[in-house]
Amino acid sequence: MMTDKPFDLHSLKKEFHKRLHQTENLEGLEEIRVCYFGKKGILQDLMGMLRLAPKEKIPELGKEINLFKEELTKDLEGKKRNVEERLLALSLEKEKFDITLPGKIRNRAHSHPVLDVIEKMTEILRSLGLKEVHSNEIEAETVNFDLLNFPADHPAKDMQDTFYLDDSMLLRTHTTTFQVPMMRQHQPPMALFCAGRVFRNEEVTSRSHQQFSQIDAFHLGKGVSMADLLSLLKLFYRRLFGDNVLLRFRKSYFPFTEPSVEIDISCIRCEQKGCPICKHTGWLEVAGAGMMHPNVIKAGGHDPDIYTGWAFGMGVDRTLMLLHNIPDIRMLWESDTRFLHQF
Ligand code: DAH
Repeated sequence: MMTDKPFDLHSLKKEFHKRLHQTENLEGLEEIRVCYFGKKGILQDLMGMLRLAPKEKIPELGKEINLFKEELTKDLEGKKRNVEERLLALSLEKEKFDITLPGKIRNRAHSHPVLDVIEKMTEILRSLGLKEVHSNEIEAETVNFDLLNFPADHPAKDMQDTFYLDDSMLLRTHTTTFQVPMMRQHQPPMALFCAGRVFRNEEVTSRSHQQFSQIDAFHLGKGVSMADLLSLLKLFYRRLFGDNVLLRFRKSYFPFTEPSVEIDISCIRCEQKGCPICKHTGWLEVAGAGMMHPNVIKAGGHDPDIYTGWAFGMGVDRTLMLLHNIPDIRMLWESDTRFLHQF
């Protein structure tokens, strides 16, 4: 039956809004668009029906359809914007990062604490006017022992203390090996130091290792005295550990020095109140030293009646352990990053 109005725009609109209301994604909205505005969509049907309406009604109905179309288009686009905004908010929410969370800490390579403390100690020696030289880790037995005035039967020459490579070559047991070769290369006065690794065939424990680092120094010249050594070491240890540190010289024996002393500093942990580190003595042994033995000066090619010299040798590892309260020397050689990253 043909009526004035061949279509019911009101219920079409209701139906459209119902579908719009129920749709919350872009695919669904696209389906609605095709259903209403597509080539075979409802609007096309309406235009078809319009042609069947009485002629005089067509302009008015046409206008109504146009308004209907405009309204639906506007509502569809509004809903589309709505959905897009919600989807964007949702994805932003998912990607949101919390700037208060701790960041990932990347492990960056850095120098080993032993190298750092060597740098610190040698920097002080340089600032006190000594010049750095280098020396071999593999040395002739004569350079390691004989030229340093070790008696032929000295127990340190025993296989148990020394890593021999063959009959005559070994891994240096101390950096004192640099003395004679340097004296042979230079004319006095000379004030030199050498830092490096040394090796001993010892049992590995928390306090001793088969490899460790030493710094050796000597000053050869005219009128060089033990007092010079004392004042230099005082300055050195004060710069390293602070102005309150006290020094003590104890009589000792080394084949390459005469007289020989052992140097103690006041315990930097307990300030001499007594603690396990200084074994409750208040003192820590840090270096060996003395006046260069005439035989060593001679071996270096100089006249001990003209020149005198002081010398000292200090352990690096123990100094590092004192500075950082490290309980076990093995930690320095284990390359455990949990330990190393603390520096
Ligand atoms: N070479 C000794 C050692 O390894 C340390 C030492 C003592 C070095 C006295 C010296 C020195 O230059 O004069 O135990």
